[in-house]
Amino acid sequence: MALDPLAYAKILEGKPYGSYAILAPDLSEEEKKLLEALTLVLSGKKSLNQLDLSFLGEKREDFVTLVRESILKIPPRKLYSPQELLAIAEDLHEDLKVIGFEEPFISIKAVYDGLGLGDLEFPLYDPSIEEILVNGRKSTFLYHGELGYLEGELNFDLREVARRLLRYLGKGSSLIDGHLPDGSRINVVLEPVSDVGTSITIRKFKRRRLSLLDIIKRGTMSTELAAYLWLLIEGMGVVPHNLIVAGNTGGGKTTTLNALLDLVPLNERIISIEDTRELSLLHPNWVPLSKEYDDVALEDLLINALRMRPDRIVVGEVRGREAETLLAAMNVGHAGMGTIHANSARDSIRRLTSPPMEVPREMLPVLNLVLVQHRIRTPKGYVRRVTEVAEIAPLEGGVNIARTFVWDPSTDEIKRTEIPSALIDKMSEYLSLSKKKIQEELRRRQKIIEYALKENLDRLKFISLVNSYYLNPSGVK
Ligand SMILES: Nc1ncnc2c1ncn2[C@@H]1O[C@H](COP(=O)(O)OP(=O)(O)O)[C@@H](O)[C@H]1O
Ligand SMILES: [Mg+2]
Repeated sequence: MALDPLAYAKILEGKPYGSYAILAPDLSEEEKKLLEALTLVLSGKKSLNQLDLSFLGEKREDFVTLVRESILKIPPRKLYSPQELLAIAEDLHEDLKVIGFEEPFISIKAVYDGLGLGDLEFPLYDPSIEEILVNGRKSTFLYHGELGYLEGELNFDLREVARRLLRYLGKGSSLIDGHLPDGSRINVVLEPVSDVGTSITIRKFKRRRLSLLDIIKRGTMSTELAAYLWLLIEGMGVVPHNLIVAGNTGGGKTTTLNALLDLVPLNERIISIEDTRELSLLHPNWVPLSKEYDDVALEDLLINALRMRPDRIVVGEVRGREAETLLAAMNVGHAGMGTIHANSARDSIRRLTSPPMEVPREMLPVLNLVLVQHRIRTPKGYVRRVTEVAEIAPLEGGVNIARTFVWDPSTDEIKRTEIPSALIDKMSEYLSLSKKKIQEELRRRQKIIEYALKENLDRLKFISLVNSYYLNPSGVK
């Protein structure tokens, strides 16, 4: 029988925060003692003969056999993934049933406390939770995909959790960055740098990256906007445009960038540069570089990437000196994309030209496009919305920011503005296509996206549809 840890996790609504609590079933005295004994042997804190097992009475022998044959044979790891823990708990549960303990919570809790991160394993396993924030001894918050922040009512031994994390991540300083076994990103700040006890920030690994269609379905962008971006990013094989995705933390910048990269023809060579690996592309000629395991400067990675004959350069998050290098690369004809932390197109420009990035203003027009996306609070919870898309053009003494799409909060629609698209006009000139022809091309791409939505294509099928359109535009209806 498969165990369900989430059967014990309960979400309670409340103000200003709801809560996420683990509700243990009522355990008998015997069950409580068993749970304690199991946790002690699992964690290796006590050996079998150090345990007081008198409460088991005549089941004692069976329990000793169980520990010898199952528990002591669990492959030792510094840390286990949620799936591994569940598999161990399931085996344990089967064994415990044989000696008359039926309550599944005992095995789950014993494994979580004995081998894992205590009750933190429940939200780690729970797919609706995106982030886990332990503020030392003070509080724990969980970020729920729809409900936002929930206060965690969780039982775990912070010192023990910190000890297990450090054993796994390695301790170099008081500030530790790394990954959990399932790929989730983790940051740990030790006491006394963190005044309230070890602080832990976990951003859970998304097994499934949202596709462009998923993003449209969630109302983040429209099919009209998606077709416009598609045409400009791909550039009909000859004029690929550069794009920066701007927004706040958690606004979905990386997700949108990843989804837009799905529109880049599969035969292009992409080199990506990130602090920590987040992008996930299906291009066979994609080389992801990150400074995760070697503290090299992003700028040096970028300079190296330019020597790798890329068709496209992607910088996961533009923050420092690499900004100018990226724009310089765009200037000499490399197509580039990236994300930036900023509130608006104008704010992106301001940040790019101020320290620490300090890109010379005259270089900015190579950027072509800024897409701004935010996490917005609504009565129904958080939503992600593209709030504006702007074309960047040279203007005497600076740059012109022309907003071609703007979000209307009153109707919750992202609308095409009256401003003509200078980029598309230039593209039609360059390709000697009439404006009418290029408008037809836009509409055709919008129709393809609408068709893909109607057919509910998954990410792979959508990518393959997009690429068969490149190969044979008239073959796709
Ligand atoms: N359009 C979207 N709709 C709903 N959820 C989204 C959307 N884009 C991203 N998310 C979710 O938001 C979280 C943060 O996304 P991410 O792309 O890492 O944000 P950022 O790069 O802006 O910090 C992830 O859990 C992701 O799955
Ligand atoms: Mg990001």
